[in-house]
Amino acid sequence: MRILLTGGAGCIGSHIAVELLEHNMEVCVIDNLCNSSAKSLQRVEEITGKKIEFHNMDIRDEKHLRQLFQENNFYACIHCAGLKAVGDSVNKPLQYYDNNVCGTVALLRTMQKYNCRKIIFSSSATVYGAADKMPITEETPKKECTNPYGWSKSITEQILMDLQKADNRWDIMLLRYFNPIGAHKSGQIGENPNGIPNNLMPYITQVANGRREFLNIFGNDYPTPDGTGIRDYIHVVDLAKGHLKALEHINNCGLKIYNIGTGKGYSVLDVVNTFTKVTGIEIPYKIVERRAGDIAVCYASADKAKNELGWNAQYT
Ligand code: NAD
Ligand code: UFG
Repeated sequence: MRILLTGGAGCIGSHIAVELLEHNMEVCVIDNLCNSSAKSLQRVEEITGKKIEFHNMDIRDEKHLRQLFQENNFYACIHCAGLKAVGDSVNKPLQYYDNNVCGTVALLRTMQKYNCRKIIFSSSATVYGAADKMPITEETPKKECTNPYGWSKSITEQILMDLQKADNRWDIMLLRYFNPIGAHKSGQIGENPNGIPNNLMPYITQVANGRREFLNIFGNDYPTPDGTGIRDYIHVVDLAKGHLKALEHINNCGLKIYNIGTGKGYSVLDVVNTFTKVTGIEIPYKIVERRAGDIAVCYASADKAKNELGWNAQYT
């Protein structure tokens, strides 16, 4: 089975590539390397002992896409390519909509032309906005997003839903990731953001290895047991395995939406204290103002993925 994996050189995509190869699928990656390096794909080949076909190209390059589809018979596309920095998206909305929304439309148009109508889309818990009730289920209504990145995911979901409604030959899965963290056990691939990390876990690891002096904790006055924000941290290998389960169930699925989380919420202080307990490394921190756009609590109900896909997180 041949799978097209967009954004496959990225953090999540490279972990998905490992799982696909280890399950004897053929993987064709397209990535423009705007936030990654081809080295991660070499590492994937080292980990698995298998080859990946790689095309350094932009998903908006339809001419190149058409050529690729002409030469290949893809069973399905796992679509991870996208820009994902929330703060950046506020300053560069056009870039984000063009890349994430127009890029997806170009990909879908090409898939349709070449009769490949199965797609798994990397969506995000961000589409739920500030949900009224926890845990968040797939029936929880979507709310206003707080930034263009979030809207780009929400709008793309809408496009995919409209497409499936218009033509029921499409099989579409929207996987709403909660907070992916962690790395492959080989230590060969993982998250390595450029500049100052936006997300909690890479920031903690950079404090741990001495690249940064201390962690800023954004607020300790949230209505949570210790006052810090609560999230559902999902291990990236579990997340990657979720895509395999999605592929197993995609044929004739119509349109399906799944939360990909652990079903458990942990506070920022829980994460910091656990990191210290496990590694023995103290993480100095300062409590600072809340970060604009942050919500107090966000965690998934992961029951639907468990019941329908037979997937649940193995790592805590
Ligand atoms: P990442 O930046 O590591 O990977 C994205 C990859 O897409 C990169 O390799 C980048 O070079 C590539 N890319 C971007 N635009 C492209 C384009 N126009 N053409 C070709 N390649 C392009 O990010 P990630 O954490 O691996 O995220 C993967 C997907 O999951 C993204 O769509 C992201 O929005 C989504 N997601 C991520 C998180 C998270 O916290 N990491 C949470 C929810 C959803
Ligand atoms: N936090 C800190 N200090 C930091 C970084 C984060 O205290 O330096 C706190 C945040 O305030 C929040 C928690 O740690 O309470 C998690 O923050 P992240 O930035 O790691 O993650 P978010 O929940 O804000 O957002 C992430 C992705 C989004 C995605 C969302 C839901 O960045 O793209 O998860 O999937 F939409």
